[in-house]
Amino acid sequence: MEKANYSLVTEFIFLGLTNSWKIEVFLFVFSSILYVSCIMGNCLIMLTVIYDPHLHSPMYFLLANLSFIDLGVSSVTCPRMIYDLFRKHKVISFGSCVTQIFFIHLIGSMEMVLLIIMAFDRYVAICKPLHYLTIMSPRMCIFFVVAAWIIGIIHAIVQLVFVIDLPFCGPNVLDSFYCDLPRFIKLACTDTYRLQFMVTANSGFISVGSFIVLLISYVVIILTVQKHSSGGSSKALSTLSAHITVVVLFFGPLIFFYTWPSPFIYLDKFLAIFDAIITPFLNPIIYTFRNQEMKVAMKRVCSQLVNFRKIS
Ligand SMILES: *[C@@H]1O[C@H](CO)[C@@H](O)[C@H](O)[C@H]1NC(C)=O
Repeated sequence: MEKANYSLVTEFIFLGLTNSWKIEVFLFVFSSILYVSCIMGNCLIMLTVIYDPHLHSPMYFLLANLSFIDLGVSSVTCPRMIYDLFRKHKVISFGSCVTQIFFIHLIGSMEMVLLIIMAFDRYVAICKPLHYLTIMSPRMCIFFVVAAWIIGIIHAIVQLVFVIDLPFCGPNVLDSFYCDLPRFIKLACTDTYRLQFMVTANSGFISVGSFIVLLISYVVIILTVQKHSSGGSSKALSTLSAHITVVVLFFGPLIFFYTWPSPFIYLDKFLAIFDAIITPFLNPIIYTFRNQEMKVAMKRVCSQLVNFRKIS
């Protein structure tokens, strides 16, 4: 409450994505459809994993957790973006802006940690199959998932600590459709050069670091599979290719965004839309597309849901 006295700025204004009416309509239809499908697809994965005893294994539990986080990834920015598309004055309050920054960083870093855990799970399954059940015990899985939450919360709080006391007195226009931290900091009326550097370094370091860890683990897994190529390896490789696709889709735009401040604002916005809507929408498709077990289980859950509605 005291904050409001210092800073004259109590709300921010988004410039949004475009001024063209046609593109707005297109974006509205496109992102609404993707958002709804993303919610449905990820909920279906969670339901299937929870209700199907055949899928009660670490790999699928982690996949369900990824789906849960993907729901968050798209819900942090997408509904607001759709809501703002046709508003003349796209205003967001100071508090909502900071909240959005917090959740973007919480969920983004949780997703990265979870992708690393999933890579570790595949590494153990493929490279140390005899120890799989002892290493990835239910207890260990829960420990990993809790660790992902804790790391996410710490990262998000650290980012907030940097910005929460910044004074805002001048311009309050963000050329974006969500509160992204780098642009937010630039609006503060103090010298923020070092802060900008720190925030970019923090997020850049985490995303590039996780990306490198993931790449190394995939290379190790692929080399191991090639050395002992046997019957099971093609199945292993097909799950792995799904993981790699997801990782590239998630990190590609992100790393580009943080390490390569683009002169084209449109490119930045496009990449942000990509990570906010398209990646969380694609994840369930990528993971289930080539996974027979998952497809069969989904059909079973769907038919059960239909039968349930007939009975009741
Ligand atoms: C996330 O993973 C944990 C540990 O394996 C599991 O108990 C939990 O059910 C998963 N959460 C979801 C939403 O599937």
